[in-house]
Amino acid sequence: MAANDLAATYRSQFSVFEHVTYLNSCSQGALANSVKQSFAEYLSTLELQGSAWGDWTAAQEKVRGLTARFFNVPSTEMAITTSASAGVSSVASSLNFNEGRHKVVTTENEFPTIGQIWHAQESRGATVVHVPTNADLTVNVEAMVKAIDEETMIVSITHVCFRNGTVTELAPIIEAAHRVGALVLVDSYQAVGAIPMDLAELKADFVVGGMLKYLIGVPGLGFLYAREETTKHLVPVSTGWFAARDIFKMDIHAYDPATDARRFESGTPPIPSLYPAAAGLELVLEIGMQNIAEYVAPLHNELRAGIEAMGGKVVTPAASHLHGAMLAVASTDENAHVAALEGEKVITSCRDGNIRISPHFYNNRQDVERTLAAFQKHKSFLR
Ligand SMILES: Cc1ncc(COP(=O)(O)O)c(C=O)c1O
Repeated sequence: MAANDLAATYRSQFSVFEHVTYLNSCSQGALANSVKQSFAEYLSTLELQGSAWGDWTAAQEKVRGLTARFFNVPSTEMAITTSASAGVSSVASSLNFNEGRHKVVTTENEFPTIGQIWHAQESRGATVVHVPTNADLTVNVEAMVKAIDEETMIVSITHVCFRNGTVTELAPIIEAAHRVGALVLVDSYQAVGAIPMDLAELKADFVVGGMLKYLIGVPGLGFLYAREETTKHLVPVSTGWFAARDIFKMDIHAYDPATDARRFESGTPPIPSLYPAAAGLELVLEIGMQNIAEYVAPLHNELRAGIEAMGGKVVTPAASHLHGAMLAVASTDENAHVAALEGEKVITSCRDGNIRISPHFYNNRQDVERTLAAFQKHKSFLR
């Protein structure tokens, strides 16, 4: 790790480590000094100008540009939304479910918002098919491919499961969908900033996520990538004035949405969230996703080995292509377990009976040791 010790270079920019051992980036990234500073920058626009719409819309375009650069796609294919949910809802509203194409093929590993939005489309003619997951919690790629047919409107897949950190092999599912003319939406919220992603290569039609986790931004901001070639015919009916072709035309007699991905946006952007998102993205881009993934992998593996050595059960698959940063550990009482670890100043989170430990580029070996010591002290929670 010494050759490329990211924590040695960047950790001093994250004051949270003066107080706690922070390993909860799958929930909220740690606060970088530059991200903290960006709030002051936003506030100064209010103090100095009162209203600063020119600066604020420029901040929206800056985030759009940085997000597009992060994914290696044109910024015209990127919508900046108020949440991942807002992006998916807007996409759902653009689909006309009919007898010919009415199926939404999805997994058992989706985040609630994804399942809920698709089931909400049942009143509009959609049929939602959940393909059962494998025993090791990975998505059953073969069963997904089998479930995709000529009646499939869209395939909706999670990239990294929020409950257990399992990674889905996307390419064969995307290929199967495209063979029968179905669209693919990937929920990458738990992947973005943890796993290198190139959307020019991936060929998904839609990719959603947000800024507050491994992209070290704050709540209030999501993104929706919409591949122009395959989605330009889709027009959302859930909309707002910031999705208009000409936002300041102020026309109330017609619906004339933008022709690029901005048509999936809605009302006034969450301006206070734009500044920290840009600062977070800039830092992650400076470090580079390949460097981050290579740096975090040994930390993940050392945590895994340590938990297993004390008799704990890691439910995240071990194969390196089936997991990202997050490591999920089975617990007898997830909430009490998180609280016990917090009592040792080790910050994690829990979902679905598991403790989630999610290292990032600012974590180091000392964090691993402190985390394992806290797990050892509260070993009775392991199952
Ligand atoms: C995998 C995944 N998808 C979606 C979401 C929800 O995103 P939002 O609240 O921005 O809609 C989360 C949030 O934790 C998530 O982890």
